[in-house]
Amino acid sequence: KKILLMNGPNLNMLGHRDPKFYGTDTLAAIEAMVVAYGAHHGAQVDCFQSNHEGALVDKLHEAHGRYDGIVYNPGAHTHYSYALHDAVECIDVPVVEIHLSDISQREEFRRISVIAPACVGQVKGLGKEGYLRALDMLLEEASE
Ligand code: DQA
Repeated sequence: KKILLMNGPNLNMLGHRDPKFYGTDTLAAIEAMVVAYGAHHGAQVDCFQSNHEGALVDKLHEAHGRYDGIVYNPGAHTHYSYALHDAVECIDVPVVEIHLSDISQREEFRRISVIAPACVGQVKGLGKEGYLRALDMLLEEASE
């Protein structure tokens, strides 16, 4: 199985962002954790992070036909990017949305995910463990 781990804007700053919401790990550490967990479960995990909406749209299009699943933390794009919603919707790869923090318990503007309706699942509020739970969901799906 081939899984793509995607992280959107500002997630390259993990380790410097508010630890109350995002923990103390860097993105590199989280990526290494997901890659190792995937390998242990027979999956190859490729990682991609960008702060640019268009680059993320392009990456989703490239994933079409090439991956068995995508673990995706869209960052703030979650709350407003219809372009990323549509990109997730138009590819044949199941996407699980993940958030480190519980977006339903924070500011009003974070409560809505415009991307979630195009995803097969959502994980939130579990910190970095959430990435592994999202991967679990895809590995279960891919084995059916
Ligand atoms: C986030 C939540 C978003 O609201 C925020 O803009 C982020 C990170 C999370 O992982 O909790 O950048 O997606």
